[in-house]
Amino acid sequence: MNIKKLILECFNEKIIKEFNLIQENIATPPNASMGDYCMPCFSIVKELKKSPVEVAKILTTNFDYSQIVEKTEVVGGYLNFFLNKEIVTLNILAEVLASKENFGKSNVGENKTICLDFSSVNLAKYMHIGHLSTTVIGNCLRNIFNFLGYNTIAINYIGDYGTPFGKMITAYNLWGNEQELNAKGVDYIQDLYIKFCQEAEKDDSLNEQARINFAKIEKKDKEVYQLYEKFIKASIDEIQTIYKLLNISFDSWRGESYYSDKMDNIVKELEKKGLLVDSNGAKIVDLSEYNLGACLIRKSDGSSLYATRDLAACEDRYNNYHFYKSLYVTDVSQKLHFSQFFKVLDLLSRDYAKSLHHIYYGRFSLPNGKIASRQGKQAILKDILNYSINKTQEIVNKNDNLTKEEKNKISTSIGVGAVVFSAIKNEKIKDVVFDIDEALDFNGETSPYIQYTHARCCSIIKRAKSLGENFVYNMKFDEISNETSYELIKTLNKFPETIISASEKFEPCLISRLLIDISKAFNKYYSNNRVFENNEINQTRLAVVEATKHILKQGLSLLGIEALEKM
Ligand code: ARG
Repeated sequence: MNIKKLILECFNEKIIKEFNLIQENIATPPNASMGDYCMPCFSIVKELKKSPVEVAKILTTNFDYSQIVEKTEVVGGYLNFFLNKEIVTLNILAEVLASKENFGKSNVGENKTICLDFSSVNLAKYMHIGHLSTTVIGNCLRNIFNFLGYNTIAINYIGDYGTPFGKMITAYNLWGNEQELNAKGVDYIQDLYIKFCQEAEKDDSLNEQARINFAKIEKKDKEVYQLYEKFIKASIDEIQTIYKLLNISFDSWRGESYYSDKMDNIVKELEKKGLLVDSNGAKIVDLSEYNLGACLIRKSDGSSLYATRDLAACEDRYNNYHFYKSLYVTDVSQKLHFSQFFKVLDLLSRDYAKSLHHIYYGRFSLPNGKIASRQGKQAILKDILNYSINKTQEIVNKNDNLTKEEKNKISTSIGVGAVVFSAIKNEKIKDVVFDIDEALDFNGETSPYIQYTHARCCSIIKRAKSLGENFVYNMKFDEISNETSYELIKTLNKFPETIISASEKFEPCLISRLLIDISKAFNKYYSNNRVFENNEINQTRLAVVEATKHILKQGLSLLGIEALEKM
């Protein structure tokens, strides 16, 4: 039920126009005594030369009451709205029960295409803690856009290009052997790479060899290229195990190397349009007048750069998908890079330049000493996930009502969920210090808490079913006419608008927060409203449980977390 829209409809067109009223002007007051919704008039007054109180008074005298809005009240610069609880409650419930998990689903996206570049790991290295946020935020946004009827293209723009690969090949040729490579995969390549870095400190000629080997990869020299492909394959196999755990898949794996021989056109165009200038032998686009420094296009030795490949990749994506929007999810440290290459495309008069968005987030780290990082490198994602799964297992093992398989499944899903949720619990720009005990607290603001609440709903419904009833949900308002019910129902009803806001602000935490609010409201509701009375089922109250279950399930699924029926 779109209550904000229904409230707005109580004003006539003239008033709406005069005060520029939009749904976003309507908010939730801090407490229920101030009404169900309110309109703070501070932002409305802007150029009207009237005080917020005056505006609120004008609005209230021009308000046509409806079945839904029973009363308005002016308090300070606020116009507060009081709703008819019965109508609101029963309508929302009926709507959720009818749409089930599709409550909030829509076609606002009209099948327009959104490209999402996320995860985009550099290969032949471990996926480490720094890759968690991009992977999880990107996947969540993708789920949200799909739910809203967009056509999404998930792109893993793998880092499969550059001198590190020359170093690995050099190290392998010097110290490596095939048997170990086949047996240990990425672990082995990483060890070789680390050894290379240590040795190259002492012997600079190794770096020269690495450059030569990289040049051979570029020229697809048979022997070197085969080895390179082997490294890439081992590495992709490794990261696929993580994506599998996270239940994430991609539509495209076109990475940096794919564009290594497709940059000429765009570089030539830059040259032709007089945008390319010389800077100590390198070629740059001077963006200083936009406060964006210099975008490096070619190094003095002629080799290409990260930005050059991104320009080519962006053009390729537009040609392939004609995207409505194209998003890039990385940490905030790459902000300048994206601003630069977006600007270059704008200078090249690409209309699609304004459809590009860099979605950046803060640092995700571990408190010192919690999970040992290997060889002083950043903590490895696989280790963190396993650690969390094992910790969960210790808790779940205490439950004797579960089979071994159930225990495994539940531990994996809760353990992984806890890590995922930590990356999308707060505003994405905030830094996160991941605390496993906090993340696994079943009573905290965590995914186990939401999963537990969902499972609780499922078990209530199961019990009701076992009592052999066929539910018609003949709903009677007086059975749920208390504050805890009303609070829960109103919170459930925020689901659709929250998904829309999350999609507009690229902010998954809006959904995470709402699911926490719903879970809290549900647990309060359930302790105040008995569903079972001597094996008699109160159908109206059960309906509320079912509505909650649908929304928690869909919400978790949008976040990329499994909703368990039992735990
Ligand atoms: N591979 C890069 C890194 O790990 C991230 C790539 C982001 N996407 C892009 N189109 N530049 O830092």
